[in-house]
Amino acid sequence: MSNLIRETVTSVHHWNDTLFSFTTTRNQGLRFKNGHFTMIGIEVDNKPLLRAYSIASANYEEEMEFFSIKVQDGPLTSHLQNLTVGDELLVSTKPVGTLITDSLLPGKNLYLLSTGTGLAPFMSIIKDLDVYEEYDKVILTHGVRYVSELAYQDRIQNELPNNEYFGDVVREKLIYYPTVTREPFRNQGRLTDAITTGKLTKDIGLPDLNPETDRFMLCGSPAMLADLTEILDAMGFKEARAGEAGHYVIERAFVEK
Ligand code: A2P
Repeated sequence: MSNLIRETVTSVHHWNDTLFSFTTTRNQGLRFKNGHFTMIGIEVDNKPLLRAYSIASANYEEEMEFFSIKVQDGPLTSHLQNLTVGDELLVSTKPVGTLITDSLLPGKNLYLLSTGTGLAPFMSIIKDLDVYEEYDKVILTHGVRYVSELAYQDRIQNELPNNEYFGDVVREKLIYYPTVTREPFRNQGRLTDAITTGKLTKDIGLPDLNPETDRFMLCGSPAMLADLTEILDAMGFKEARAGEAGHYVIERAFVEK
């Protein structure tokens, strides 16, 4: 593929046995919108082995960041999880995707609904200053099975609110709502249930969901997306499609092996 370039791994962080993230150098020609994904991978037997990954860094940052699961015998992640600083990674210079705020109608509150590695594109979106200009509140939800899967908590709760350039606006507008399904935690249960019961808006102190004011970006497993879109559709929200703006956009989390 002619649009593949080689980047160098600059850091690797293992969150637990099943999740890790890493950063790479960024070619100056690599442009993207926050929320986009790109193809990344390695060479195996002299052939590129690539998968789609959401970009977790913001488009103005110097490095690229990715968030991945680890699967012991997964064709790509069994290799990727052994990456170390200095290794080479193949990265496509043509990021794409539907999870971008441009496709949303103007609104007041932006809900970023993610499960598992579906958090990745939202780590980019919550660093986008335009998003804070356009919305009064930005609500980042992350649904996981176990507490150890709540990656990036420190960055969301401590680093971003103290960022020297936009910490003020993050403190004023960003609401983080992690929820865990398979062990005790302060918020428990699936996001779908938290939405249908009204628990989510009640817990964060915002009004009931309303197509006039609320916008959504969804990223998770196919099952999570199917259930959530059904719930949102029933509440009168419309998906942005074929260039027509809407109340929500979706992208499946690239849970690749
Ligand atoms: P649960 O533990 O009840 O399955 P996964 O790793 O399977 O993608 O799950 C990540 C998180 O998303 C888990 O908390 C899981 O809850 C939840 N989840 C799985 N399927 C759905 C769904 N259809 N709707 C909402 N949340 C879901």
